Amino acid sequence: MVSPFEVLDVDEDDDDETVERAYRERVKRAHPDQGGSVEEFQLVRQAYRELSDRDGNGTGSDDAEHLADVDLTEDADAHTPASTRVEFLDYEAVVDYGWSLDDDELFRKASHADLDSDSHGHLLVHPDESLLEAAERSGFAWPFSCRGGACANCAVYLADGKLSQPTNHIMPDDLAERGFRLSCNGYPLTDELSVVFNVKQRPELDDLILPPGPFTRR
Ligand code: FES
Repeated sequence: MVSPFEVLDVDEDDDDETVERAYRERVKRAHPDQGGSVEEFQLVRQAYRELSDRDGNGTGSDDAEHLADVDLTEDADAHTPASTRVEFLDYEAVVDYGWSLDDDELFRKASHADLDSDSHGHLLVHPDESLLEAAERSGFAWPFSCRGGACANCAVYLADGKLSQPTNHIMPDDLAERGFRLSCNGYPLTDELSVVFNVKQRPELDDLILPPGPFTRR
């Protein structure tokens, strides 16, 4: 099994500053948006977390909180945050209330509606989690099927913030430009996100949906 020192290409006696510098370089190359894979990206982040905590007194966790500002694109807002606070809204509520996805007041309207906690609320995405994984860890049953970028069952609408979009996915560019993303392989690039989940019932996603199978929850 590869050690975290090997993953980040540092020595055991390297100081925290050297480790952090190595991490910042390594995580850029490993990011799914930059040609890496989700597995590699998670491995690098896990290695950094382990080395940040290696003294066992918890001080490394604070360092980990500060490592987030790794620029991955030309966009100054995009980085790999330590964690991301997500406000979510179920598309079924959007339909029920006759709201529109591109309404700037959508989430304000949702917060004033009497929606249950599965339909509207907040969750936290940890550094090594996709948006879907974070929703599941938080106890929510968001829709999915393949978990690998090959369908749109897990699609969300990104109302605010940035979510990575790996290169090997099925979402057409025009829909991505309109804000549609895949939650199964989307990793937050901003400290906060606002997403509408369960948008797979949108007509423009019809051709991308896989038929219900054993892994589709809703
Ligand atoms: S579940 Fe199929 S692309 Fe996400």
